[in-house]
Amino acid sequence: ITKNVHFDVMKENKMTNYSTVSAMDFTISPFMRKDNWDKVQNFKAKPDDIVVATYPKAGTTWMCYLLDLLYFHRTCPEREKSVPIYDRVPFLELVCSPYPTGTDKADSLPTSPRIIKTHLPVQFLPKSFWEQNCRIVYVARNAKDNVVSYFHFDRMEKIQPEPGDWDSFLERFKDGKMVFGSWYDHVCGWWEKKQTSSKIHYMFYEDLVEDTGRELENLCSFLGLSPLEEEKKEIVRCVQFDVMKANPMTNQMDDLTLDFSVSQFLRKGKVGDWKNHFTVAQNEQFDEDYKRKMKNTSLQFREEM
Ligand code: A3P
Repeated sequence: ITKNVHFDVMKENKMTNYSTVSAMDFTISPFMRKDNWDKVQNFKAKPDDIVVATYPKAGTTWMCYLLDLLYFHRTCPEREKSVPIYDRVPFLELVCSPYPTGTDKADSLPTSPRIIKTHLPVQFLPKSFWEQNCRIVYVARNAKDNVVSYFHFDRMEKIQPEPGDWDSFLERFKDGKMVFGSWYDHVCGWWEKKQTSSKIHYMFYEDLVEDTGRELENLCSFLGLSPLEEEKKEIVRCVQFDVMKANPMTNQMDDLTLDFSVSQFLRKGKVGDWKNHFTVAQNEQFDEDYKRKMKNTSLQFREEM
């Protein structure tokens, strides 16, 4: 033990020094322990499972809650008062003591369909979801706002090492040295898969902000649902940023792993907050790098981002 906890040994150890985690080593994190990997990969999906897939901080909780309301608001309104969103929608690859693992939570979900969240890149989604033809809702967020949100989240996240300063965090994001790998690979990987799979509904955070009702309509068509007009209105109301922020079931107030004195989980909920963080030089370098990395994809985010 004395040898292992020596500074230099810990510094060289990928399990203890975050900065040595490479994009492909994203399974090494307190969230996704290697010893849980087989359990995740062998997870048994059910045909009616709905997967919410995102890069972290792209609006995952927003989509989870929207889907939860769509399926259960009418039939189980009592869950609104007592079941936090992270218990309604298990995080598939999560390992975070003292909570049960994501796969265990998903296995014991009493409701149907199960809504299951994942941040896994497309190539690592457990194959059972493809075999069972499950529907998948992917939400992408423009890179600049995504990295800003990720930075603030990492600052308040207690079980991850400190994110460092904004400048180095931004560099790490560009290099893909993040817990779930490269943003570029993630959004593009899922986008390419969508081109050949009718089971993926690819959405954008910015579209949800612009017109939540319109996006809800499109989502309902994809899922084959036809809620009543007043139900849709109520869902749109419930998923507004301020309403979710004031709701203890959707704003993770008592999460043991988050320090709310540092930042907020539902922080700003805006498009374009990156402008308050990027310097002119950072923005120019980011744009140049972005063009290079995105040159071979047809995936496009809005111009003004
Ligand atoms: P900000 O940090 O920019 O505020 P995730 O759920 O994937 O962790 O994403 C969190 C981001 O989504 C946060 O972004 C959060 O505020 C935003 N978000 C959550 N609910 C939202 C809502 N109802 N409307 C707009 N943004 C929302």
